[in-house]
Amino acid sequence: MKGVIIVILSVLFCQLSYAQDKNTIIGDFKSFKRSGQTFNFVLSNSFVQLNVISPNIIQVRADRNKITENQSYAVVGKMQISSIHVAEESTTFKISTDSISIFISKKPFRISYFTIEGKLIQEDDGDFGITWTNNEVTSYKKIVEGERFIGLGEKTGNLDRKGNGYTNWNTDCFGYGTDTDPLYSSIPFFIGIHDNLQYGIFLDNSSRTHFNFGASNNSFYSYSAEVGELDYYFIYHSNVRDVIKSYTYLTGRAPMPAKWSLGYQQCRWSYYPDEEVINIVKTFREKKIPLDVIYLDIHFMENNKVFTWNKDRFPNPKALTDELKSMGIHTAVIVDPGIKVEKEYKTYDSGLENNVFLKYPNGKLYEGSVWPGLCHFPDFSKPETRKWWGDSFTAYTNAGVEGFWNDMNEPATWGQRFPSHVEFNFDGRGGTTQTGRNIYGMQMARSTFEGTKKLLNNSRPFILTRAAFAGSQRYTALWTGDNTATDEHMLLGVRLVNSLGLSGFANVGVDVGGFNGDASAELYTRWMTIGVFTPFFRGHKMINMKESEPWSYGEQTEAIVKNYIGLRYKMLPYLYSLFHEHTVSGIPIARSLAIDYSGEAKVFDSRYQHQFLFGPSILVSPTSSKQFYQPVFFPAGQWYDLNTDSLYEGNKEEIVEAPLHKLPVFVRAGSIIPNQKLTQSTSEYPGDTLLLHVYDGVVINSFSYYEDDGKTYDFVEGNYYLRMITFDGIRKQLSFDIPSGKFQSNYGFIKLILHGFVATELNAEIKSSLKSERYFAVHPESVYRDELYFASKEYSDVQTIVIRNEDKKFDIRLK
Ligand code: GLC
Repeated sequence: MKGVIIVILSVLFCQLSYAQDKNTIIGDFKSFKRSGQTFNFVLSNSFVQLNVISPNIIQVRADRNKITENQSYAVVGKMQISSIHVAEESTTFKISTDSISIFISKKPFRISYFTIEGKLIQEDDGDFGITWTNNEVTSYKKIVEGERFIGLGEKTGNLDRKGNGYTNWNTDCFGYGTDTDPLYSSIPFFIGIHDNLQYGIFLDNSSRTHFNFGASNNSFYSYSAEVGELDYYFIYHSNVRDVIKSYTYLTGRAPMPAKWSLGYQQCRWSYYPDEEVINIVKTFREKKIPLDVIYLDIHFMENNKVFTWNKDRFPNPKALTDELKSMGIHTAVIVDPGIKVEKEYKTYDSGLENNVFLKYPNGKLYEGSVWPGLCHFPDFSKPETRKWWGDSFTAYTNAGVEGFWNDMNEPATWGQRFPSHVEFNFDGRGGTTQTGRNIYGMQMARSTFEGTKKLLNNSRPFILTRAAFAGSQRYTALWTGDNTATDEHMLLGVRLVNSLGLSGFANVGVDVGGFNGDASAELYTRWMTIGVFTPFFRGHKMINMKESEPWSYGEQTEAIVKNYIGLRYKMLPYLYSLFHEHTVSGIPIARSLAIDYSGEAKVFDSRYQHQFLFGPSILVSPTSSKQFYQPVFFPAGQWYDLNTDSLYEGNKEEIVEAPLHKLPVFVRAGSIIPNQKLTQSTSEYPGDTLLLHVYDGVVINSFSYYEDDGKTYDFVEGNYYLRMITFDGIRKQLSFDIPSGKFQSNYGFIKLILHGFVATELNAEIKSSLKSERYFAVHPESVYRDELYFASKEYSDVQTIVIRNEDKKFDIRLK
């Protein structure tokens, strides 16, 4: 008898253990209930909820147990009232909005998305649909012939991700390779493109997620989450721009940055003591190389303990930041999340007292080693911790610091094996490392942003992060971590920045010049010229490497780099307006050509995939430091060489010269680009004249010009200046709309700098409507050189007109 029981038990045990390793398919439709824009389906093996968030955004959630209350750190966009039409038949459902028709087959349960005209956009894979492999849930989708995939945030590899697989698991990856995956940040959002259609998928799950774009199989692609429910958003629009707009409607956009953070930023691990910091800044000023921000890396702290100052190296921080401020410089400091376990260290003691640290399930505090030695780690997913962390910044804000660099927040620990069973508060909902890790950096940046914003009294703080999750863009800029000083990394950085932009993260940059390793003069030069066209522009270098300031690579490099940083400063009115545009539309600053030319195969060609548009008008073709001739793909239209104004026809490939002093950069015909005169920092008065470059072309083009005080939140109360400027290249007319907002423009005059026009003459009607002293035409030879992009450049037929910047609507007819 005993033997029989043992046999039965062991058979049962085997079945049980077998049963633990298995697939569960989603099952067949059984019933459904509608409540407003929410559709709840009961299936034979699972539950599915479909929410119509807007006519263009559909949320799909699936769980084997039940659909619980929706919880997301990423999504802030609310459901919009949308008209919905539902038709149920014996084997199908059809749910239609004004933009998408969703077909659902009942047996098995499969979802297909169509345009209103009936074109298939995306469909579940017929064989697998949604499947659980043990706890991992996967959505399998059919790959369409020729389908491409772009985005997914900070991912190495090509612009088109087809044929590759990726994992999201925030990782400290010092010295990463050009094909390493995962890196520091997780943004589970991509855009699929086929047959002139494009759609977005955002997988809102912070656990380890996997994306397979047809790697190791030829029939499906998939996205999966190791823990938790399947929760994805399907977004459809008739163009990539609007897909990004809807994605950033859901997850938010970068706030208006402090203008000073758009200037050049200089960093090094580490500048110390205080006299060294002053010396570096003075050298910038003496050499007339513009600069706005200087960084203090870990050596500024006492034994790497956050919220302290090293008293020997920085005895009087406030005096230092005051002196820096008097030179037009803002100070940024690094903050790491690890809090050294050390009695009588104020932050440690108050952390314990306020119960802010991460713990194991038995309540024991987690300890891991990082720069200061053994540390506890704040649980930023707990509201009380966020407040405690935010309030701690008085140590820096009282000393005049305005930039806060959030590093090591994957979180990084020596050994890189953060235990899975550490528990996270998740705003009261509870969780573990498995879902907490990927949002750790996000919640740290959020606490930093919310805390310093309060402490800085209406001034905009600058937050920079290494680790991030979808939605982090609402709080922080991001840099792509510890890259290496090679050409491959320089070009990879361009792809990372462009991919982040496709994925809702606009304020991004890389360690220009390469963090790890010494760059050659050529590499540094080229990298800095590319860096000018990166939204966040900072040079940084690792400890024990050679000096890496603009003057450290010889005179030639210094001259070129100075010229290009100067160009960045001249372009600030354009760049600032682009950031405003981003807050409205989600369109990034650095725009992969895949945004506007998604149907154009050349855009994905390995020779051209790095090309991007800096704003709507400036086409940049990044080139290796060893290559002095560069193949360029010119999209439709006409393009002016930024340096010479020579014209290239669009829809063509050309080989152009690319010497180190001349990065291939082109301006779209018909463009309007506001510039200012060269300054040494954003605190310097840029004069009373806005320099408006206009490029002739047979197109109609508008630019949304934006100004505010550049530093406070007063714009929220309407203290801004927003003006639409339109160039009609057919009628050759430039029109200025009445500006909106309460802010008075900083510029009393606008100097039109006209490129490609045969001759300039104001038409008589306009002349008579303007009082004569309000305008005057200037001949080409009187163009001030530093009003042009490059002091060194000879422009042949540039002409200028100066007009008063009146707040009324007016037109100017050109020839
Ligand atoms: C990390 C950061 C790097 C910083 C260093 C020292 O490696 O990524 O930028 O300089 O830590 O703080």
